[in-house]
Amino acid sequence: MRVLVTGGAGFIGSNFVLRARETRPDWTLTVIDSMTYAANRHSLAPVLSELGGDGSVRLVEGSVADASLVDGLVADHDIVVHFAAESHNDNSLDSPWPFVESNIVGTFTLLEAIRRHGKRLHHISTDEVYGDLELDDPERFTERTPVNPSSPYSATKAGADLLVRAWIRSFGIHATVSNCSNNYGPRQHVEKFIPRQITNILDGTKPKVYGSGLNVRDWIHVDDHNDAVIAILEQGRLGETYLIGADGERNNLEIVRMLLEIMGKPADGFDHVDDRPGHDLRYAIDSSKLRAETDWRPQYGDVRAGLEATVEWYAANRDWWEAAKIESERTYARLGR
Ligand code: DAU
Repeated sequence: MRVLVTGGAGFIGSNFVLRARETRPDWTLTVIDSMTYAANRHSLAPVLSELGGDGSVRLVEGSVADASLVDGLVADHDIVVHFAAESHNDNSLDSPWPFVESNIVGTFTLLEAIRRHGKRLHHISTDEVYGDLELDDPERFTERTPVNPSSPYSATKAGADLLVRAWIRSFGIHATVSNCSNNYGPRQHVEKFIPRQITNILDGTKPKVYGSGLNVRDWIHVDDHNDAVIAILEQGRLGETYLIGADGERNNLEIVRMLLEIMGKPADGFDHVDDRPGHDLRYAIDSSKLRAETDWRPQYGDVRAGLEATVEWYAANRDWWEAAKIESERTYARLGR
């Protein structure tokens, strides 16, 4: 099978490529990535010949909104796994246009190529399209939850999801969609919560918690997410949406205290900073449908064990993140967070 991975030099996409290389050696993998600040070609070093890797993956630099580039690539592949997206809420509040361009125009461009060439699409999305839940709400998000996004980022992802659904229904394209909860693991950009706090501690700076820190996220290791995507590619039903989650609900204070403890610092060694405007309170995923229809089960049952491995990765890979850290903290200083 020839697989085109959009956004394959970003966090979840690059982990997908490495995971697929390991578990599906018969697949041919091509990456298209616009190589913005959020991408890092060193994430793909084991598979790129120019970085001393085995040369098993081709990296094409370009945007998913570039119709002629996308048309040629889609024509040459059997399936497209669409990770490419602008993904950081704080950036979307600061400057929304790149989110509309990548997430909506990019997905539209890909859908048109998929329709022209009769290929299969798997669209990667987020639980944020469903808005947020109260802390004591007994219900979690399911595939039937109405979309109700809060931020420019989540609104553009909801828009992209709706485009995919419309192309399935109106044009009969062969596509599946997955909406996953918060990922953590190696190669995540240092602007995100967990790597920001790990690298702060490694740099001798205190972690920064937005507002009260009582906001809940449903954490899943990136390898569990990507194994679920592979399960949907192989066992999912065309036209369907699947929610991916690993029952990992924790509030931000719990995560920060766990990281401080793992890294040998006092549990109260963090600062509260101004809250994010419109900050979603809680996300929580019910992944029963995925578990009923595929054999996928998360392998990282314990968030703490996954965080320990993630801390080790950032401690051992300073070269990978140091330059991005300087840029990212400059932006946070400007935003006052
Ligand atoms: O739920 C899936 C989503 O998870 C993905 O769709 C997004 O692309 C991804 O960025 C993530 O969104 P969040 O906004 O939840 O992730 P973030 O890492 O920015 O923040 C996680 C939580 O931590 C959130 O409640 C905000 C808080 N936070 C974040 C940062 C960067 C802090 O308290 N301090 C921080 O420095």
